[in-house]
Order: sequence, then C-alpha cells, then structure tokens
Amino acid sequence: MPTRRPTIGVFDSGFGGLTVLKALLELIPDADYIYFGDTARLPYGSKSVETVGRYAVEAAHYLEAHGAEVLVIACNTATALALDRITAAAHVPVVGVVEPGADAAASISSNKKVVVIGTEATVSSHAYRKALEARGIEAREKACPLLVPLVEEGWVEHAVTEEVARIYLAEAFADGFQEADTLVLGCTHYPLIKTLLRRVAPGHVSIVDSAESTAGVVAERLKELLQAKTPASGKQGSEPQLKFFATDSVEKFRRLGERFLGRVICNVQHVDLKE
Ligand code: DGL
Repeated sequence: MPTRRPTIGVFDSGFGGLTVLKALLELIPDADYIYFGDTARLPYGSKSVETVGRYAVEAAHYLEAHGAEVLVIACNTATALALDRITAAAHVPVVGVVEPGADAAASISSNKKVVVIGTEATVSSHAYRKALEARGIEAREKACPLLVPLVEEGWVEHAVTEEVARIYLAEAFADGFQEADTLVLGCTHYPLIKTLLRRVAPGHVSIVDSAESTAGVVAERLKELLQAKTPASGKQGSEPQLKFFATDSVEKFRRLGERFLGRVICNVQHVDLKE
C-alpha cells in the first residue's frame, strides 16, 4: 500500500518563517511543503490585531486552496495576534508557534523565570506571557523591533547588531529578572542570530527556539491526521517537494530566503492577493 505523503502549508509575513520550514524539513522529511510569504505586506510586527488577522486569514485560505492539509503559522506575530481567528476560518488543523515555544520554555526553566523577545505587536499582545503563566512561569516580554531589519540586512554577525542586542537583553534581564534562566526567541528572525544572542545573553541562560518545538508539535498532529485519513499516493523516502508563494518580488524572496532556509530556493510564484 502506498504511504501517504502529506502537504504542509507554512505561513509567514515574509522570509522569517523559513527558519520554521527549515526545522520542519529536518524533522519531517516525508512531507511536501507549500510556503506563503506575505512579503508585500510585511512587517506584521508593527501592525494592528485587525490588520494582521485579516492578512493571515487570506494567506491561510490561499494555502488551503493549494492543498495544505495542516497549516503552520510560523509567524510569531500572526500567531500571537490571530491564531484563534485563523483556526476558526480554516478547515484543516492549525499549529502556531507560541504554545510550542511556551512548552519548551516550561520544560527547560528550572527557576520558572523566563524572558521572551519578539516584535512590538507580539509583546503587546502578551500571548507568550499568558501561555507561560498558564504553565506556572513568570515571564518578562521585551520588544526588540530593531533586530528584524538588522537580520534582513544580513548583519547577523555585526558589531551594530551585537550592540543593539546587548542593550535589549540588558533591559530585559533586569529589575527582578536578572536570574531568569531561559530566553525564548519569539520571532522568526532571531534563530539567525542565535550565536550572537548566546554571546550577549547572561551565561547561565538557555535559549529556546520555538521553530524546533513547533516542528515537534506538527509531527504529532500529522500522525493523528494520517491515521484518520485514507492512505494516498506518494513515496516515502523521496525528497520533499517545496513550493513557495510570495506577494512581493520573486527574485528578492529567493535571494533573502536562501539565508533563512540555508538551501537554494526555486519554484517561487508571485501571488497578488486582492485587498
Ligand atoms: N515574522 C514576524 C514574527 O515572527 C517578524 C517579521 C514581521 O514583523 O513581519 O513576529
């Protein structure tokens, strides 16, 4: 009997969600992937709940219409502001990045004090704080808006990025949070500067990358999904098929995206979403 090869839809405001796709490809190679980067409308991190929710639902519908059987909301901002709205609008299971990140932090933190860094919108929503408090963790959230443009500029090992990160983390690990023992990377772009953040964060701190924990949750969901559905065609063991949709320049998506995904990107299609 042929083994079913599912199609996983991954959504992000732009390129950053490719760090989540990278983690998914490592953990779940026996799947095909379609990725939607809303590059024409990024950044989401400075937008309102209403706008992010509307954009994210449009993207989710697009991925479903193109065969996604599970939706991964790789964007921390979209997850934090609109996961409920996306889940209500979708007809397939939806996995966001906040709950898996909070789970990972809860299992790693010994003293139950955690710092989360993210975009302005993610921090204002307090989605991480609520998720962590529900797990008995005290959380400090810190917006680090300058880090996204620095990473997109390719300044992942740059004195300016290091200084900016040092200032943000000094402010975060202060006022009762000096002894926090875990740092959650609550934004798709931060895994690219994990080495720099490791250097700048206090030495005793463990770093949680929600991309990895999210991939684990998606793998679990897929097991349930595949048990529930009739097996379909597809060869296990073959290379995942990857297809990308971007709302802005295809060329730019390829160029910037390769840095995030760590492999060559082909098969990018431009999408024009009507407002
Ligand atoms: N993808 C966003 C996030 O993870 C960062 C980029 C943006 O602001 O759109 O929060």
